[in-house]
Amino acid sequence: MCESVFRTVTSSQVILKELMVPAYANFGGKVHGGVILSLMDKIAYTCAASHAKGYCVTASVDSVDFMNPVEVGELLTLYASVNYVGTSSMEVGIKVVSEDFKLGLVKHTNTSYFTMVALDEETRAPVKVAGLQLENEEEIRRFVMGKLRKKLRRGHQQDIIDLGKKLDLEHTLGELEGENCLLPPELVLPY
Ligand SMILES: CC(C)(COP(=O)(O)OP(=O)(O)OC[C@H]1O[C@@H](n2cnc3c(N)ncnc32)[C@H](O)[C@@H]1OP(=O)(O)O)[C@@H](O)C(=O)NCCC(=O)NCCS
Repeated sequence: MCESVFRTVTSSQVILKELMVPAYANFGGKVHGGVILSLMDKIAYTCAASHAKGYCVTASVDSVDFMNPVEVGELLTLYASVNYVGTSSMEVGIKVVSEDFKLGLVKHTNTSYFTMVALDEETRAPVKVAGLQLENEEEIRRFVMGKLRKKLRRGHQQDIIDLGKKLDLEHTLGELEGENCLLPPELVLPY
């Protein structure tokens, strides 16, 4: 009989530090959001692949809300942990902080959750990953919250699909009054 494998959260935790160089700036002089997203994807992969001990892909990314701008010259630090493990999927929680050396200021930039799925490299079919060996109350809390988010994500995706299928454009046009858009003249409702 094949024994189930369990790995601790700490065994795959990752910290990534990156200096925000001028090449990362946007036209406003702040760091491009895309640079931070790319670093988040990189650390999510490292963390998930380290837990799964194999190839993984990004299946979904929860909303990413940038709470503070990141300046060129700051040091960005990303912390990643596997919060929850299903059969082949893993939820990786990522916290991003930026540090201004001169002012000694540390700002919380954002927190997000990436769902990574372990795949067989040849068939690209999802494969079972090791379970999580939870070692303290905080890890149990994160696991329970990860399980809850997985359920909410599925429900939300289905709700959007169902709403799209039910959309009756003719009866929805009235709701666009006052919105920041212009309609083609032939579709403007008569007074
Ligand atoms: C993610 C992917 C492997 C899922 O494949 P699938 O055939 O739908 O697999 P399943 O339905 O068996 O789901 C496998 C797991 O993925 C999870 N999953 C699938 N789609 C998901 C999504 N959109 N969001 C979150 N989790 C998802 C399932 O919940 C399941 O988790 P579990 O095994 O822990 O219960 C597939 O959609 C894929 O390869 N997508 C492209 C990924 C990629 O290339 N990413 C990089 C983009 S450049």
